[in-house]
Amino acid sequence: MTYTDKVVRQFAVMTVVWGIVGMAVGVLIAAQLWLPALNFDVAWLSYGRLRPLHTNAVIFAFGGSALIGTSLYVVQRTCHVRLFAEKLASFVFWGWQTVIVAAAITLPLGITQSKEYAELEWPIDLLITVVWVAYAVVFFGTIIKRRVSHIYVANWFYAAFILTIALLHIVNNLAIPVSLVKSYPIYSGAVDAMVQWWYGHNAVGFFLTAGFLAMMYYFVPKQAEGPVYSYRLSIVHFWALIAIYMWAGPHHLHYTALPDWIQSLGMVFSLILLAPSWGGMINGMMTLSGAWHKLRTDPVLKFMIVALSFYGMSTFEGPMMSIKTVNALSHYTDWTIGHVHSGALGWVAMMTIGSLYCLIPRLVGEKEMHSIRAIDLHFWISTIGVVLYISSMWIAGVMQGLMWRAFNDDGSLTYTFIETIAATKPYYVVRLAGGVLFLSGMFVMAWNVWHTMRNKQHEPVPASAPAYWGGESA
Ligand code: HEM
Ligand code: HEM
Repeated sequence: MTYTDKVVRQFAVMTVVWGIVGMAVGVLIAAQLWLPALNFDVAWLSYGRLRPLHTNAVIFAFGGSALIGTSLYVVQRTCHVRLFAEKLASFVFWGWQTVIVAAAITLPLGITQSKEYAELEWPIDLLITVVWVAYAVVFFGTIIKRRVSHIYVANWFYAAFILTIALLHIVNNLAIPVSLVKSYPIYSGAVDAMVQWWYGHNAVGFFLTAGFLAMMYYFVPKQAEGPVYSYRLSIVHFWALIAIYMWAGPHHLHYTALPDWIQSLGMVFSLILLAPSWGGMINGMMTLSGAWHKLRTDPVLKFMIVALSFYGMSTFEGPMMSIKTVNALSHYTDWTIGHVHSGALGWVAMMTIGSLYCLIPRLVGEKEMHSIRAIDLHFWISTIGVVLYISSMWIAGVMQGLMWRAFNDDGSLTYTFIETIAATKPYYVVRLAGGVLFLSGMFVMAWNVWHTMRNKQHEPVPASAPAYWGGESA
């Protein structure tokens, strides 16, 4: 018996491709914020259309391909069976790529529902639903036909990610179509806003967090060649995380028409969220206890540990920003953008990159990537890139917040809005430099992946190969 790895290989390669595309668009919009003329007066190159293209490409194309691909790899190894419904798995791959291409065409054309992270219009939403149901059938079908009684914790996180995204996607996208490219949500006013940010925050919690924690729980022990630090902690923080995330969404709507008590509820749940988040971070970090020396020589582990550090940092910063008085300063400023990218680049992208460097050689029967030095180079370029990105946005954000709320003795504003934009420009240049560095790192990765996978027989990996995945109760 062998594993079904073709679909995993396809997703792995497309993760790198979409990573480059999505980040290149990120670099372009970062450049436009510095030099608006870079939209060349072409409507479909304008900032308002490219920004959602960036967010959809990095979250759903890059992040989504990484999550679906790794989940299909992990579930086979930890259940000791081939995938359930293999043809359906292939449909999931082609279906998801079709969704991405449809997004890449419609968003620059300005076809949008105007809901952040849920911009795609109803025909594409329907296709997403079909593909997602197929994905759920493949994943849960494989769990059901497993040959070991235990369900390893990584699968719990993937399962929560799959179920919750289905729920969020369907509820937030309920709409009445008026044409093929236009629909109106069934919600209105403050209720629409509430549903949207229940969706938005849980997209962070379950797409950008739970799924990547699943990756962490498989690939960190694998790369460190030791068991997970505490299996018990992984279960406790799993239940705490999924129970608390659901309630924190209103922190996106502080000082709005949303009832005040709901805003406060969101703030309190966000503060509590620090505990399970750090539970996961500590569990990942401590998995290296006894193996810290490996960090000196293994750049793949460096990616993973730095990713966990950024996870810890952004999940400390998030609860702080959810405090209403702090949010009064941070909201609408680039501080939020800094927070987003310490999670998105620092945690999501770096965990993905580390996991792919661990996964890809195994998919072609190799022990490691073609060039370890190239991984080290990639590590340093991207770490410097993230640091430049987030530190410039923090400074810019706090500066903007303070300038906007500065008053003269007579009650008039000290600064005009355009003065705050002029003051921000130098920081946009630094952010752009950070983005260019991070993107260059992705090209180094593509070169390395190409050399690792090229001319390989793609020998099917026998299922009897040692499937060490670090669970204490393995
Ligand atoms: C080379 C790397 C990247 C660059 C240069 C970049 C640049 C940008 C820029 C310029 C914006 C718009 C900021 C604004 O409106 O003021 C943005 C927004 C955003 N980016 Fe990125 N980005 C990169 C990578 C990523 C990655 C890998 C992810 C996710 C995994 C991501 C997720 C987001 C999100 C969610 C937003 C919207 C934030 C919000 O609305 O508050 N980005 N990015
Ligand atoms: C305990 C965990 C976290 C909490 C409590 C939290 C809280 C917050 C708060 C208060 C905001 C600002 C809302 C506003 O003023 O508009 C925010 C924005 C955001 N956070 Fe977090 N955060 C957490 C972790 C993360 C992580 C790990 C990521 C990414 C992987 C992330 C991604 C985002 C995004 C994308 C936004 C911008 C949403 C938008 O306006 O478009 N957060 N978060």
